[in-house]
Amino acid sequence: MSEKTFSTDAAWTSADSSELYRVPDWGGGYFGVSSTGSLVAYPVGDEATAIDLHDVVRGLAGREVTTPVIIRLPGVLEHRMTHLRRAFDAAIASAEYGGGYACVYPIKVNQERHVCEAVRDFGAELGFGLEVGSKPELIAGLALTQGFNEMPLVCNGFKDAEYIETVVLAAKMGRSIIPVVEQAHELKLIAQSAAAHSVLPDFGIRARLTTPGVGRWAGSSGFRGKFGLSIGEIMHAVDYLRDEGLLSGLKMLHCHVGSQIFDIRTVKYVVSELAHLYVELLRAGAPVETLDIGGGLGVDYDGSQSASQGSMNYTLEQYASDVVHRVKAVCDDAEVPHPDIMTESGRALVAHSSVLVCEVIGSRSFPTEPDPALLEAALAAEEPPQPLLDAYEAFQTRTTTDSDSLLEAFADAEHALTEATNLFNLGYMDLRSRAAVEELFWSVGRSVLDQLGDEVPEELHDLKDRLADLYFVNLSVFQSLLDSWGIGQVFPIVPLQRLDEEPTRRAILADITCDSDGRVEAFPGESGPSASLPLHEVPEEPAGSTSEPYYLGVFLVGAYQETLGDLHNLLGDTHSVHVRSAPNGRWRIETLVEGETVREVLSYVQYDPQEIRTRLHRDIEDALEADRIELGEAARLRRFLDEGLSGYTYLE
Ligand SMILES: Cc1ncc(COP(=O)(O)O)c(C=O)c1O
Repeated sequence: MSEKTFSTDAAWTSADSSELYRVPDWGGGYFGVSSTGSLVAYPVGDEATAIDLHDVVRGLAGREVTTPVIIRLPGVLEHRMTHLRRAFDAAIASAEYGGGYACVYPIKVNQERHVCEAVRDFGAELGFGLEVGSKPELIAGLALTQGFNEMPLVCNGFKDAEYIETVVLAAKMGRSIIPVVEQAHELKLIAQSAAAHSVLPDFGIRARLTTPGVGRWAGSSGFRGKFGLSIGEIMHAVDYLRDEGLLSGLKMLHCHVGSQIFDIRTVKYVVSELAHLYVELLRAGAPVETLDIGGGLGVDYDGSQSASQGSMNYTLEQYASDVVHRVKAVCDDAEVPHPDIMTESGRALVAHSSVLVCEVIGSRSFPTEPDPALLEAALAAEEPPQPLLDAYEAFQTRTTTDSDSLLEAFADAEHALTEATNLFNLGYMDLRSRAAVEELFWSVGRSVLDQLGDEVPEELHDLKDRLADLYFVNLSVFQSLLDSWGIGQVFPIVPLQRLDEEPTRRAILADITCDSDGRVEAFPGESGPSASLPLHEVPEEPAGSTSEPYYLGVFLVGAYQETLGDLHNLLGDTHSVHVRSAPNGRWRIETLVEGETVREVLSYVQYDPQEIRTRLHRDIEDALEADRIELGEAARLRRFLDEGLSGYTYLE
């Protein structure tokens, strides 16, 4: 579908790009590279449903929906949900397990209504439910499950009397709603509400397991964990419930040891501990029927299939099998019934289904050759500073074919740069000499990379990153990729086009916020994160009408990024579109959710857009009256204001 608009390098193929960007490693079978050089999504994992993402972005541009935009792929979401269902069904069948399985989707992972509705609608067919963790989420959850009385709605998080009463009343209305006690005092609130409304809802208790989690969210469990009851508190809770005649309501035992569990051993330990606790609760007379093991099912962001922060060392099938077999083994040993198993898998369900697309609006690279005029002028000084002479000498030997001499020249240039910086900072070097030394250093560095290629010695392995270009993207990292900024999460980033052409540059990405932190400089690499990304050459100036826009896709962003994002620089929510494949290799937009307007984001921070308009219009009139601007200019300003207020917060 995609038209090739750029010249191609004959030797380079789409398959090379697929390998370079490691698409099969992180793509989970949902993404690939077409022979025409476009990034393609396979929503149900096969080529018949291929959606050319470059074509989609151009189609959106034709509809005046500009980037940045989130492309949501409901087909991928449904496939992930089905995959999880099948993995547990297969594990249950192979273990001859007596209980069932359900996943309740934690809406905090992506609360966007259309995403939640898609999970709910498809989840209803799979026997899945939803999970909420706060009062606003409870209200959203109740609205989402309206008309779905059978759908489990698990309620976690800190609760007050109002929260509990709402849950109890919803249970009385016939909803399958299950509050999970996170703090001991919540038991009393349940008791009070149950008495007040003469109904005892099923409820759960969250256990604060001693098994530590792993990675960034390890603190979610262990003795000092913020949530759940310790083993001692659970014993007291059972006594309390028995005394109050409420023990019959304790139907669920819950735990959550943190998100993105990258090591399968943690899953095994957690499930064993929870299953043993279940056995003990049954023995104490609690009629627990469900073990909810929380979230944590990982996503292989960097595609390394390893027990490391951005990856995981297990498959979905292994996860399901380990969970089911562990619970079964403990229960069989203790000769107690197999409970139903529940997971609160969020990240693993939704991460793959969203792609953030942004446009490169310009680039900046280090000059490969020093500016001849600058160099000549600097060298013509009466007494050129020594670092300049050293750097110049290194520069002159940069074309040597002897790699040792080249490396020596580089070391000299680097030393000269340090000396030049020191001299300049002490006031002993003029601006021109300093600029010339910098340009000479960059030039020698570039020669090392060009001439030595893969033979660059170990100690200079970061040179390609140090000399990487800066590509400016029409995006806010703080709004759309908060985990990249906040916790160093690595997301795969790949051009959506020109993939049949060799990328000849390396770059880091800088966003349009006024914050130097607003950049992305960690990308999935073969052995750990890479500090720069191979990209195609783009014009330095923002794309004009003559050049084809260069789009980048940021993948696996469906989990957490949208709702965690903030309004730094008042850059608001991006547009989002739900795209499905259609017959004959086509695609169609199912839903278009427009991003926030300037008017909306201004009002979030208590500006009144109408008042702004009135004031500025008055200002324009004053300027007109005083002949500071002309009528046409006044009209242009008014138009800019009016269109600006109702426009997108990003560059258009
Ligand atoms: C209680 C609870 N359940 C489920 C989840 C979702 O976890 P994940 O997205 O790792 O599946 C979380 C997130 O941290 C959580 O706190």
